[in-house]
Amino acid sequence: EADPLTDAFARRMTYLRLSITDVCNFKCQYCLPQGYRKSNETGDAKELSLTEIERLVSTFATLGTKKVRITGGEPVLRKDLVDIIHLCRNTQGIEQVALTTNGYRLMQELPGWIEAGLTQLNVSVDSINHQEFQMITGYSRLNDILQGIEIAAASSLNDIKINSVLLKDYHQNQLNLFLDWIKKRNVTLRFIELMETGEHRQFFSKQHISAEPILESLKSQGWSELKRDRHAGPAVELSHSEYVGKIGFIMPYSKNFCQSCNRIRITAQGKLHRCLFSDEGVSLRSLLKESADKELVECIKNTIQGKAVSHSLHQHKTGAIINLSKIGG
Ligand code: GTP
Ligand code: 5AD
Ligand code: SF4
Repeated sequence: EADPLTDAFARRMTYLRLSITDVCNFKCQYCLPQGYRKSNETGDAKELSLTEIERLVSTFATLGTKKVRITGGEPVLRKDLVDIIHLCRNTQGIEQVALTTNGYRLMQELPGWIEAGLTQLNVSVDSINHQEFQMITGYSRLNDILQGIEIAAASSLNDIKINSVLLKDYHQNQLNLFLDWIKKRNVTLRFIELMETGEHRQFFSKQHISAEPILESLKSQGWSELKRDRHAGPAVELSHSEYVGKIGFIMPYSKNFCQSCNRIRITAQGKLHRCLFSDEGVSLRSLLKESADKELVECIKNTIQGKAVSHSLHQHKTGAIINLSKIGG
């Protein structure tokens, strides 16, 4: 078995988050409020090809990657998504293949993804109130997404997470609706603290709230924190005896959030980012040729050695990331 890629702080990078497209069909207020602006992309601006993805995933697998999460933009908009899932799952060493989606065409396409080897699914649902959902995402068919989630919950997948970004104007209404909703559903509802990105400083200053008080209030209502493996990543998870579903929190502004980081990221154009924030990315694209095997491995190892101890969100530094649509969070 391969020795896992390890950074200078002894964190093991066994988890690769792979963005396969920048394109998105939603207009989330905190991400792409004007929608995705299409450009005629050529050369290095083009999305990674299936062959390039194959090369990347197999190289990372030899470096100890065990889990690949496919992200976007909206990954479902890529025509060869099923092939990508399939190749990830069939790469020796890769044990888990996860997908993060906005839920578009989930209902219709989930069976094909499962057949191709998908093991985990995260769906973003910022509100389960129809009007609010449309205000936040610009998309009107929340019902289809919720129905897709029902199908997923009844499928062979057993690790379904719902992502909900905490926004000051909406969270109070949402909490009780969501609690009812997970009472009998085997899903983990993840509240995510809004992160400041280069393009959205104003939105951030208006809408960001800390998850801490919500976490504390749930704890006082019978929710208790689950023990997680030291290498399980930075989320906190809670369970309750009267609820089938669980609740998770992603609190990048909390102390020591990055201490358990196990993940690295690749953009749709093949740039390696050691951290979601605070780094400019290193392009691997020119090394994705059969002949550059050694150079590719060396470049990845050296780059990971330079991974910063923590993101720089507290300093309001967001690096190259102007919004998360290029890198999938
Ligand atoms: P798991 O693979 O189950 O741990 O899922 P996840 O919650 O990390 O993945 P998902 O793609 O659903 O991401 C949910 C949100 O968490 C996104 O907004 C991500 O940006 C955020 N997030 C995930 N990992 C990190 C991280 O390492 N740092 C920061 N700052 N945010 C993260
Ligand atoms: N802060 C927090 N979460 C964000 N996401 C996108 N942009 C941000 C941001 N600025 C979330 C989406 C989705 C996940 C992949 O990233 O809501 O759930
Ligand atoms: Fe699209 Fe995701 Fe950005 Fe929303 S958060 S606009 S679904 S890429």
